[in-house]
Amino acid sequence: MKHSRIAGTGSYLPERILTNAELERTIDTTDEWIFTRTGIRERHIVAEGQYTSDMALEAAKKAIEASNIDIQSIDLIVLATTTPDRTFPSTACLLQQKLGIVNCPAFDLQAVCSGFVYALATADNFIKAGAAKCALVVGADAMSRITDWTDRSNCILWGDGAGAVILQASDEQGILSTHLHANGNYADMLMVPQGVSNQEGSKTILMEGNAVFKMAVNTLDAIVDDTLAANGLEKSDIDWLVPHQANIRILQSTARKLGMSMDRVVTTVDKHGNTSAASIPLALDVAVRDGRIKRGETILMEAFGGGFTWGSVLMKY
Ligand code: UT7
Repeated sequence: MKHSRIAGTGSYLPERILTNAELERTIDTTDEWIFTRTGIRERHIVAEGQYTSDMALEAAKKAIEASNIDIQSIDLIVLATTTPDRTFPSTACLLQQKLGIVNCPAFDLQAVCSGFVYALATADNFIKAGAAKCALVVGADAMSRITDWTDRSNCILWGDGAGAVILQASDEQGILSTHLHANGNYADMLMVPQGVSNQEGSKTILMEGNAVFKMAVNTLDAIVDDTLAANGLEKSDIDWLVPHQANIRILQSTARKLGMSMDRVVTTVDKHGNTSAASIPLALDVAVRDGRIKRGETILMEAFGGGFTWGSVLMKY
């Protein structure tokens, strides 16, 4: 089997919805400012005692059900997150335990908002190398736990959720190409300074929003060109853009670059906010389940985030 192909998708959003109207009551902002600048109306927030692995579990169960596979056939778990339950063990191991799967490799991958693209590329390479046949790939983040809810310059962006796919070895075409990049010289522009070995500075997100915005737009334009060129495709060959949901204005800019109307762009940012590694698999699952994305269509996924990291995946669904 030469290819890796998505067999099924799943996603999960916490029950609690935090609207812009509620934020108006706690910080100096307006629904109009948030919606005009970001396209966000509301976001979901994890409950007390609810962790990233709990969201990942719900999304994974739905992806497994949609794929119609025996859960024990999963032979790799890759989980992208910036908000693990614990310092260790990995959230992937906690998810493995909750699913009752034993003895397959399971690890977390940290590439912030590009996490799902990185995780999918990693699983694709495992499968193409013959090291796995059936991978569970998850993007899950509880960004509300690392957000300073008094900082209006970025708290309005973030939300919580999880998305998952089952990626299987296949004779049919699936993932066509993956493109991953990073440039650590920009580490300070979007970060949570305090970690584990470094116990100094803020424990919540610091972002130079406007500079990050400009970098994201230019970088995503370039990766769209690279991805099309690597596959010998024209812009018009792409059926759906499933982008990382950072800000509607970034999505609109990439759509313009592709000469694509916004009704071919899967947009969830209005209801989900920016869920970091979860945003692409959440959007993919929404559009697969509502019947927009159909088997055989060509999908471009792209993301940009802290690091900086960025990347794309081109696939036949
Ligand atoms: O997913 C990972 C990558 N992350 C991103 O891609 C995020 C990229 N950045 C963004 O999405 C945008 O930069 C933000 C939405 C975070 C901010 O929008 P902006 O258009 O870049 O606004 P700004 O930071 O340049 O601020 C413009 C004005 C400022 O006021 P003055 O100095 O012009 O008087 C801010 O103080 O808007 C003010 N402002 C606000 N006003 C009302 C900033 N935040 C708010 C707010 N409500 N929440």
